Amino acid sequence: MHTLDLVMRQDQDYFPIPIEIASLLPDQLNHRRVSEGVEVVVFSEDNDRYFIARDICPHMGAPLAQARLCRKTGTLQCRWHGYIYDSGTGEMKENPNDKLFTKIKTAFQSYNPLSTPKYRIKRLSYEAAEGKIFVRRGAANET
Ligand code: FES
Repeated sequence: MHTLDLVMRQDQDYFPIPIEIASLLPDQLNHRRVSEGVEVVVFSEDNDRYFIARDICPHMGAPLAQARLCRKTGTLQCRWHGYIYDSGTGEMKENPNDKLFTKIKTAFQSYNPLSTPKYRIKRLSYEAAEGKIFVRRGAANET
């Protein structure tokens, strides 16, 4: 798709401020504003693919820009409560607090470990053209 086509569609489908690909630091979470009041985190998965999500942890809204990205384990860990997310799918892999509180919770008959909330970072889809990433409004992994 040509940039002009994207520009013409930005108001409806894309956030108005594109991300300059050359400005992205490799192997790091990059923090960018794509619209007034809309900030995202972005990192390169490989040369042509990017993980992009709103700068909001789905648990309690911490800035994901402060999360820890680990390439080795393929995870993003939020700094506020330590939730660990898959850096590919965005699904929560682990809540470290479960280990701490399981003994306390199991004292209650109502405790069901399978009924704990399942948080997920929603990836945003995008189009890349002419050195820029145009981020779409709406999540790519909504099902
Ligand atoms: S706000 Fe991110 S883990 Fe709680």
